[in-house]
Amino acid sequence: MTGTPETPALPMPAPTPLGPAIEARDIVKRFGAVQALGNGRLTVGRGEIHALLGANGCGKSTLSKIIAGTHAATAGSLLIEGRPVRFATPREAEAAGIALFYQELSLIPPLSVAANIFLGREPRTRAGFIDRTRLRAETEALIALFGDTAGPGLTPDALVADLTPGQRQIVEILKVLSKSPRIVIMDEATAALDARQVAVFFDILRARRAAGVSTVFISHRLDEVFALCDRVTVMRNGETVADLCIADTDQDSVVRLMIGDVRKAGRRTRADRPAAAPLLQADRVGGGRLRDITLAVAPGEILGLGGLQGQGQSALLRGLFGADPLTAGRLRLDGQPVRIRAPADAVARGIAYVSGDRVADAVLAGRSIFENLAAAVLVRERRWRVGAGTLAPRLAGVAASLKTKYAGLDDAIGTLSGGNQQKVFIARWLATGPRLLLLDDPTKGIDLGAKADLFALIRQLADSGVAIILYSSEEAELLDQSDRILVFNGGAVVTELSGPTLDSFHLTRAAYGDAA
Ligand SMILES: Nc1ncnc2c1ncn2[C@@H]1O[C@H](COP(=O)(O)OP(=O)(O)OP(=O)(O)O)[C@@H](O)[C@H]1O
Ligand SMILES: [Mg+2]
Repeated sequence: MTGTPETPALPMPAPTPLGPAIEARDIVKRFGAVQALGNGRLTVGRGEIHALLGANGCGKSTLSKIIAGTHAATAGSLLIEGRPVRFATPREAEAAGIALFYQELSLIPPLSVAANIFLGREPRTRAGFIDRTRLRAETEALIALFGDTAGPGLTPDALVADLTPGQRQIVEILKVLSKSPRIVIMDEATAALDARQVAVFFDILRARRAAGVSTVFISHRLDEVFALCDRVTVMRNGETVADLCIADTDQDSVVRLMIGDVRKAGRRTRADRPAAAPLLQADRVGGGRLRDITLAVAPGEILGLGGLQGQGQSALLRGLFGADPLTAGRLRLDGQPVRIRAPADAVARGIAYVSGDRVADAVLAGRSIFENLAAAVLVRERRWRVGAGTLAPRLAGVAASLKTKYAGLDDAIGTLSGGNQQKVFIARWLATGPRLLLLDDPTKGIDLGAKADLFALIRQLADSGVAIILYSSEEAELLDQSDRILVFNGGAVVTELSGPTLDSFHLTRAAYGDAA
């Protein structure tokens, strides 16, 4: 013995041949006041493809980053191939044979594909310069793994900035593979890939498995997990709740583990209410990545749009409002065909749209609260000037109904908190007396009190006969507010939930299941 085991400078002992590839025990991670992980556990055998599953925000990426040396754990221990480790940097983890595919991608857009893949690890000539011929050839060989599914334009010299989202994801995958890791963590590496690219990617992972590589596979697609993986670890709210063999379980059991107690819809459902003729009907509408959406919403009804983020919910709402016009299918309002080519068409027909993305969609920065409140009324009523005389009391009344807190209508909008700004934008539309209210994740970033006020008001509006379509990225909110929910997956509606199926189990199962 030349030192104590605590001395970090000592060479590491040789790996225990029988230790698992990864063994993470009792991992705790706090970011300031936020506890991202309370008890993260993960054991991955050698040569195993191991799924890490759980709802948004349960701690999958945080645990991955701790294993890959990007974050330091607050507490807990990590063993790699049987050896206790504590990585201070991603480089140390890489030296131990670990590579992470970053969910948010780690590419530098103005650099070439080759430069991104080999950044800091470029092949060198004997004189020590970057060997561009080899750099290009090695990049070519990596791209060839994806064959013709890589698509045109994915070449070693192409700039990452010019690639499609799917191609960028392939470059991030190739960057990981180029390190020839013994342990790979793929954190939502398939999110932007098409079906052919996913098939090739899975073949690559299977080939690596045959060569003894261990893979942690994170995905929101249960069909992918069940097609590819040997084992699955399920997480919920920062804790690991199960570690199962895929062959011994099924999708419904995994969904139950992901959600814990089933949350029932918080409200009476449509069946308890008198049926009304639909206000808006969409017949096989599409555009962009939206496909064949058919729906109807009646006065007094709150129709929820569910599913994982980015499956077409916002695209549909923006399409119905004419912000990103629909290109296929037909719309009817009160049974009459209508075309909505621009927001002005929608406003003229009594349709209002409130987005949670205040900065991009709503705020008239540097203007007063009054001007922000008046913006939609002016369009709807074709007024040219802000005549504060009659308008001010009306707008103040609407703002007050939302308990919006402000000192004076002439104060700048920027003086309000995020939640109060959001109330102003909703009040802006309420003042127009809309018949159809489109809510696109309206409570993003506002506090609980403001949310409660907002939903009480939305319910009141529905009860007074307004038809409402609500998308919320928060599942609980959606279940609490909706009379029915259409679940989106891959730009299409895969299921409608109502009555007995309006609960978190059916919602999660549809959202995480096969794309249409
Ligand atoms: N750098 C950070 N600072 C503060 N909080 C963070 C940070 N990273 C993650 N969190 C929080 O930790 C929790 C777990 O996040 P994490 O990204 O690990 O979830 P996830 O399971 O990967 O979710 P998703 O499926 O959405 O990718 C979340 O509440 C998140 O907001
Ligand atoms: Mg994540």
